[in-house]
Amino acid sequence: MTKFIIKTSPCLTGKVSIGGCKNAILPILAASLLTSECCKIYSVPALSDVIALCSILEDIGIDVAFDEKKECILVQAKNIVTLKTDYQKASKMRASFLIMGALLSRCHEAIIPLPGGCPIGSRPVDLHLKGFAALGAQAEQSHGFIHIFAKELQGNKIYLDFPSVGATENIMIAATLAKGTTTIVNAAAEPEIIDLACFLKKMGAMISGEGSNTITITGVEKLYGAEYTVMPDRIEAGTFMIAAAITKGDVIVEKVREKDIKPILAKLSEANVKTQKLDENAFRIYTKEKLQPISLKTMPFPGFPTDMQAPFMSLLSTIKGMSVITETVFENRFIHAAELQRMGAKINIESRSAMIEGVDKLTGTQVKASDLRGGAGLILSALAAEGKTEISDIYHIERGYYHIEQKLKKIGADIEIKP
Ligand code: UD1
Repeated sequence: MTKFIIKTSPCLTGKVSIGGCKNAILPILAASLLTSECCKIYSVPALSDVIALCSILEDIGIDVAFDEKKECILVQAKNIVTLKTDYQKASKMRASFLIMGALLSRCHEAIIPLPGGCPIGSRPVDLHLKGFAALGAQAEQSHGFIHIFAKELQGNKIYLDFPSVGATENIMIAATLAKGTTTIVNAAAEPEIIDLACFLKKMGAMISGEGSNTITITGVEKLYGAEYTVMPDRIEAGTFMIAAAITKGDVIVEKVREKDIKPILAKLSEANVKTQKLDENAFRIYTKEKLQPISLKTMPFPGFPTDMQAPFMSLLSTIKGMSVITETVFENRFIHAAELQRMGAKINIESRSAMIEGVDKLTGTQVKASDLRGGAGLILSALAAEGKTEISDIYHIERGYYHIEQKLKKIGADIEIKP
């Protein structure tokens, strides 16, 4: 089984360039099946989640391939040969549920497996389905699949009980070709929603309000092929910022956008990590004074991102004093804490809060990645831990970080992949 072998790596230094954002690429790939014309999507790292979604798209008859130079991905949905996605493939990745909105919009029908639970929570899809129902779709559940169909989608006002990222994206995608106007109230405002809206608008969609909590989509007759460069990955950027802080290093993180990472920069500064803006797209992260414990609460954007919770837990485990993390987005997102405790972290979990008492030293051992961001957190802890850490189940990490070991090595980390 492939593992990361990491040894203590003090003072990481150098420059890291951030890649395209996984959570923006996946909805954009799903949306590209709204047209029979070719879409060219730039800045797409060959992450395992991206490869997996491409494989699902291929199964439904879509031509999808990286160009020869691996600079962009070409998607053309000329002929859709089936309206059903495969359970084995779709269940590995929740974002595959976004194909429902796209197929419903283009073909008025889709048969998609219920995505089921995942380590970080039960993750229902009720809000997606509520949105589709408001657009006039009927859904039937049978044998673990949802069969959804509509004679015609009709725009409507949709109130989301929670600003779900996936539900907002799925409804936006479905509404682009619906008749009339759809308004999503209490919509998610994450930067990835704006990126999806920008791509859809390049395809000819009429959308306004993206980035606010009310998004309006006026349906159009037809969408067209488009070229688009995906936004940088704010979570990858935050992860490397913590790599700098936890190793007391000095790292320049390039190709980031300040507007996307404000909550991350705010919490790093509060912990006394220096975050120097070099220009619009580059930040120098270093430490000068003693780091401070902090409290943080995960929230929908512009609140602190839940995907940065595990990486911050790693950092806070090494800062003397008591820090508190409250997770409000997912009900079970502290699973990584048990592995961190095996490395010597002092973490006490009560309901949705984790009390973290910083220790002098974490110690390397054998640990397992429990999920994508929890796994990234373990890498960060391993960089600062005494001795050697072996991380198994790294396929979780490869879902969202492209060759993280190579990028870390470039800035001085002692990290190897062992097949
Ligand atoms: C996306 C991101 C994920 C991130 C999350 C929150 C992708 C591919 N994934 O996931 O990395 O952690 O946003 O920023 O973009 N919920 C319901 N009913 C629904 C849908 C969601 O109750 O129909 C709940 C979920 O259980 C969860 C909360 O809403 O507690 C947030 O989920 P959501 O924003 O939908 O996350 P995802 O889109 O799945």
